[in-house]
Amino acid sequence: MNILVTGAAGFIGSNLCERILRDQPDSVVIGIDNMNDYYDVSIKEWRLQQLNSFGSRFIFIKGNIADKKLIDDVFSKYTPEIVVNLAAQAGVRYSIINPDAYIESNLIGFYNILEACRHSYDNGKPGVRHLVYASSSSVYGNNKKIPYSTDDKVDNPVSLYAATKKSDELMAHAYSKLYNIPSTGLRFFTVYGPAGRPDMAYFGFTNKLIKGEKIQIFNYGNCKRDFTYIDDIVEGILRVMAGAPEKSMGEDGLPIPPYKIYNIGNNQPENLLYFVEILQEELINAKVLPENFDFESHKELVAMQPGDVPITYADTDPLERDFDFKPSTPLREGLRKFAIWYKNFYLNNSCR
Ligand SMILES: NC(=O)c1ccc[n+]([C@@H]2O[C@H](COP(=O)([O-])OP(=O)(O)OC[C@H]3O[C@@H](n4cnc5c(N)ncnc54)[C@H](O)[C@@H]3O)[C@@H](O)[C@H]2O)c1
Repeated sequence: MNILVTGAAGFIGSNLCERILRDQPDSVVIGIDNMNDYYDVSIKEWRLQQLNSFGSRFIFIKGNIADKKLIDDVFSKYTPEIVVNLAAQAGVRYSIINPDAYIESNLIGFYNILEACRHSYDNGKPGVRHLVYASSSSVYGNNKKIPYSTDDKVDNPVSLYAATKKSDELMAHAYSKLYNIPSTGLRFFTVYGPAGRPDMAYFGFTNKLIKGEKIQIFNYGNCKRDFTYIDDIVEGILRVMAGAPEKSMGEDGLPIPPYKIYNIGNNQPENLLYFVEILQEELINAKVLPENFDFESHKELVAMQPGDVPITYADTDPLERDFDFKPSTPLREGLRKFAIWYKNFYLNNSCR
């Protein structure tokens, strides 16, 4: 089976590709990534190195999903049965500084993927069996009701990033309805783990703490996040990939859109201050920070940032019901793995 993964050099994409290559010996993974420098490209290169060890079962294409011709050519050449679109400009705060990147990757790029899926059925070809794509917990904005349910109305995004992710869900719905493309959108909740994204708080905090700088904890520490470990996210994606929404016809003779949305989150929000305390303990255990590290003098409680939300909390009942899966990695275990990876990558240099 040919599986196309966009954003293959990214945090979630590379971990997903690795699991597929390891567990599904009959699958070939075609990975696309433009290797942009939004964060340290050496991490993306390191992730690709891990994937290259699978030889010809991993085909990497360096390119932009906003390049329609490239996407059309990739679909014609490899005729993927499953497409997982993870390429995107991520990050809430960066969408305030560089909105163009969000429009290009998250809207034009995703539109090209949808169009290519649509034409995969041309001339009676079997085409794409399932399109799975990344949405985000950001679509919930300042939702007051917790936990966040996919039945909640999410029409009030508080960042352009969130607006593009919600738009992706809407475009996917239209394409599912019009062209009967089985599609599933996944709203991920604050994903963390080894070789994660340096723009995210736990990674940025670590970079600062080792330099002896102060870290800023927003909303005076009254922020809660449903931190979700990378392996749980990957397990969730894999299960969903294998369970495409069924195609069926409505009474009007037109397709009922084979369209689903799920949350993948830990279903257990933790206070940011608690998270940072565990992070600090695990950084000491991994010898990234010295044993006598004075954490108190390195933290500063500051006000909320534009685009941020006070809490994220995933209702994961539908995921459990349909895929018998719920994330379960304890925070300490996940942060321990991150701290050990960080030590090897940056301080021992043994990963490079
Ligand atoms: N990590 C999280 O906490 C989180 C939470 C919610 C949603 N998401 C979503 O999950 C997906 C994966 O996130 P991630 O954390 O792995 O991010 P990431 O930035 O590590 O991965 C995205 C990858 O896509 C690539 N990319 C970006 N624009 C591209 C383009 N136009 N063409 C080709 N490649 C392009 C980047 O180079 C990067 O390697 C994204 O869609 C993101 O919005 C992530």
